Amino acid sequence: MQRSAPYIQFDRVDVGYSDVSYGLRGISLTISRGEFVFLCGLTGSGKSTLIKVLTREVKHTDGRVLFDGQDLSEIVPETVPALRRKMGIVPQDFGLLPNKKVWENVGYAMRAVGRTRREVSKAVPVLLERVNILHRADQYPKELSGGERQRGAIARALINNPPLLLADEPTANLDPEHSVGLMQLLEELNRQGMTIIVATHDMPVVEQFGRRIVRLEFGRIVEDVRQEPLIEESAEALAVGGSEDA
Ligand SMILES: Nc1ncnc2c1ncn2[C@@H]1O[C@H](COP(=O)(O)OP(=O)(O)O)[C@@H](O)[C@H]1O
Ligand SMILES: [Mg+2]
Repeated sequence: MQRSAPYIQFDRVDVGYSDVSYGLRGISLTISRGEFVFLCGLTGSGKSTLIKVLTREVKHTDGRVLFDGQDLSEIVPETVPALRRKMGIVPQDFGLLPNKKVWENVGYAMRAVGRTRREVSKAVPVLLERVNILHRADQYPKELSGGERQRGAIARALINNPPLLLADEPTANLDPEHSVGLMQLLEELNRQGMTIIVATHDMPVVEQFGRRIVRLEFGRIVEDVRQEPLIEESAEALAVGGSEDA
């Protein structure tokens, strides 16, 4: 790992879906380890495409993408799993396995990286409780509400404590109370060192939590600003709680 190299770097990146349809156009963006970035913009502006370039679900058609010292154009199908083990991914459509219960979906992600059943049965309930979905642990995804599925997907993304979290519209199906709860959890994880990228058009959430905002329009970056949180006091109160826990 090259410590001095940027963690994530997009250099004039295009994603052409076809001759006439572009997902991204000329994106240049650097994200350092430990940052918390909101990707904002209307539907169709390219937020999901940008995340999918990092997960290698979508291949960029021009430019260069570096992640954790690696040029993503060197990733081949065989090395995609290793790439994705470096990130927790919350897809816009949740991506839960329909034939597995909530706890199995989360436990499966742990088993996939070689953890024991014992470790799974210890860690999964703790995280499900933390994202407020423990009471649905034995349910299948189709038995859940949109918000519950979303929280299940978030638990699955976080279970291996990834260095990077990519969350695509993670509050889209949550009521305001759960949205704030989730964002507070993400802030806490960020304070502990996790790099977090959240795609959202939920502007009240973005404004409340501040942080860096990268705004996309028609596949281009039109704004990249750092904003102070509106609720400075509660952020500080949380920070104090966090350090006492540590
Ligand atoms: N698989 C695809 N095939 C063709 N066009 C796509 C595909 N996915 C996204 N697009 C197009 O790329 C643009 C950006 O889409 P997307 O990244 O999903 O935006 P957002 O997540 O901000 O809503 C849109 O014009 C969309 O129609
Ligand atoms: Mg999207």
